[in-house]
Amino acid sequence: MLNTSQAYGPLLTDSFEPFHPKVYLREYYSHLGDENRALLHFLSEAYAHIFTEIDTASILEFGGGPTIYQLVSAAKYPASIDFSDYLDENLNEVRTWLGDRPEKFPWDEFVRYVLKHEGECSNRRAIEQRIQLIRNKVQRLIYCDAKKTDPLGAGCRSPYDIVSVNFVLESITTEMTEWDLLVDNVVPLVRPQGYLLMCAIVGATYYRVGEHFFPAVPITPEIMEIKLTQQHFSIVHIHTIKAEHKDEQGYDGICMVLARKGKT
Ligand SMILES: C[S@@+](CC[C@H](N)C(=O)[O-])C[C@H]1O[C@@H](n2cnc3c(N)ncnc32)[C@H](O)[C@@H]1O
Repeated sequence: MLNTSQAYGPLLTDSFEPFHPKVYLREYYSHLGDENRALLHFLSEAYAHIFTEIDTASILEFGGGPTIYQLVSAAKYPASIDFSDYLDENLNEVRTWLGDRPEKFPWDEFVRYVLKHEGECSNRRAIEQRIQLIRNKVQRLIYCDAKKTDPLGAGCRSPYDIVSVNFVLESITTEMTEWDLLVDNVVPLVRPQGYLLMCAIVGATYYRVGEHFFPAVPITPEIMEIKLTQQHFSIVHIHTIKAEHKDEQGYDGICMVLARKGKT
């Protein structure tokens, strides 16, 4: 069994270029296992909670990568969604899915699962309707860089009602001090009284994407909670599950947090 990054090659700490969208999708989203089910449950419950408190929302998906599973629950509410990532290749993969191009990644099983969880009909027609809703709700595909104090650039400074950031801030550095700064950079994107949805791998120093190993910082649920509280968030919900493939993929588990800014 392979259990160190050395088995494949060095850790990629200074470049994200070898991150291939299709390889990442195959590694983490070709199978609707316990982790992905837990993620979909969390997102479904989080959005249900948020929309008992607010009527409409601007949503930012930050560092969304090549994935759209995060939007399935969000799309059923009155919301507009900006989707961001650091890599053009990832934004292109999402553009391919939004455009219903033949080479798109198949997210249908994820959509079906969410519909079932919501107690909705999950036949082919219902899946297509939810897919269409997602496509209609995404307004913009934009570049982001969490390492900048202005992560969306000077032209995009208005904060969002909801920011969703999943497997990004702990997954692009090996330094705890830098993770701290990355959180500081992203937090202003949430408006006062707005919501942050943050999912993260825990206990990792790297994670595998195909043949490559990418950096991670070994945060814990406690570290996330302390940091968000220091940033004046109140924790609405926090839940951690064990990893399905700890030895192969490099992390102990995933932690999912819903927090509200400036509310006690
Ligand atoms: C592990 S993937 C997570 C993708 C997706 N959010 C998900 O839930 O699967 C890490 C993501 O961080 C993005 N990324 C890399 N460097 C970044 C940076 N400086 N700022 C923001 N995102 C970055 C990558 O392009 C990639 O999409």
